[in-house]
Amino acid sequence: MPLKLPHLSPRMENVSPFRVMTVMRRAAELEAEGHKVVHMEVGEPDFATALPIVEAAKRALEKGLTKYTSAPGIAELREAIANRYKLNHGVSIDPNRVLITPGASGGLSLLANMLVSPGDGVLLTDPAYPCVRNFIYMLSAEPQLIPVSIVNNFQPTLEELDLYRNRNSRGLWLASPSNPTGTILERQRLQEICDWTQCNRLHLLVDEIYHGLEYVDDLPSVLELDSSAFVVNSFSKYYGMTGWRLGWIIVPDEYVETANILAQNLFISPPSIAQYAALAAFTNEAEVIFEERRDAFRQRRDYLSRALRELGFQLSNNIQGAFYIYANISKFSEDSEEFCKNLLDYHQVAITPGTDFGEHKAKEFVRMAFTTSMQDLELGVERITKALC
Ligand SMILES: Cc1ncc(COP(=O)(O)O)c(C=O)c1O
Repeated sequence: MPLKLPHLSPRMENVSPFRVMTVMRRAAELEAEGHKVVHMEVGEPDFATALPIVEAAKRALEKGLTKYTSAPGIAELREAIANRYKLNHGVSIDPNRVLITPGASGGLSLLANMLVSPGDGVLLTDPAYPCVRNFIYMLSAEPQLIPVSIVNNFQPTLEELDLYRNRNSRGLWLASPSNPTGTILERQRLQEICDWTQCNRLHLLVDEIYHGLEYVDDLPSVLELDSSAFVVNSFSKYYGMTGWRLGWIIVPDEYVETANILAQNLFISPPSIAQYAALAAFTNEAEVIFEERRDAFRQRRDYLSRALRELGFQLSNNIQGAFYIYANISKFSEDSEEFCKNLLDYHQVAITPGTDFGEHKAKEFVRMAFTTSMQDLELGVERITKALC
């Protein structure tokens, strides 16, 4: 008798895989065949976790700090994060409003569960980090995609927000700096957006995971402008701790209790060793390392954006943060997936098609991550130049 397979939730229908994973798999195959691949597809720093953090983890292990912690995380780390907001942004935050989560991913999932109901609409940009869209689908809610354009720095205007807002819209989720575009919400624009969400009674969530990796003097946290906003952040990017799975959220006072209950149920506790290790991220010694790395990213951004422009790619003049360039390839191809496939198969340069981040002009764009050494970036540019001849 044929095996009757269990029923799959219809909510899974729209949840899409990462195309970048296909790129990474193919890159690994080419490497196994002995090719040198230039990796510009990966959204994580190429640097190893800074030594002070690694040493702190070893000490925590030796002390046997391997048990569950409290659901919102250890008090010292929540306080250290709150202090950081005072130092960097001049805002006082009660550490109780800070909840440590398994990566920003855990934070996004918790907030989606807390704020979104079946049938709700959530306004997002197109392009955007793809998981966000999928979290909304997982709750039988509707991502309401706002196509954003290079001329507006890939962030939504008030006119666009008005246009795409619907009767069922409940919230607006943005990222600054953004993945895949590297653009930020400047202070005035962010203030207008805060006012707009309040006026329209929508919640506002800002993913600030690339904070720290900015190349401008002023990168406001939304909490400077609106204490009712929800913030997502992480130790993955600026702090170089992707594999440690540690992030945080900051919620308004009124949501602290519910967020705690959700954290207990979803995660029990964030990873213990990672939390004790992350305390060292706030030492001067670690900060010097992070700032050196930020300088390296800035130099790579300058080099790669100049080189790509010279080759005829169209890109924003304003890549203000993160480690991505979102480049228009329409001068060379009408299909970003095919462009990426050919570049990898024939020239061993791995980049990500725009179709990973949405639908709007996705076939015209590719994302290049400068998360590899300058030497490899130069090799990548040399190979791309050859590919375009
Ligand atoms: C905008 C954005 N948000 C969230 C995440 C998830 O990061 P984490 O490793 O902290 O879960 C990523 C990862 O690339 C991202 O780019």
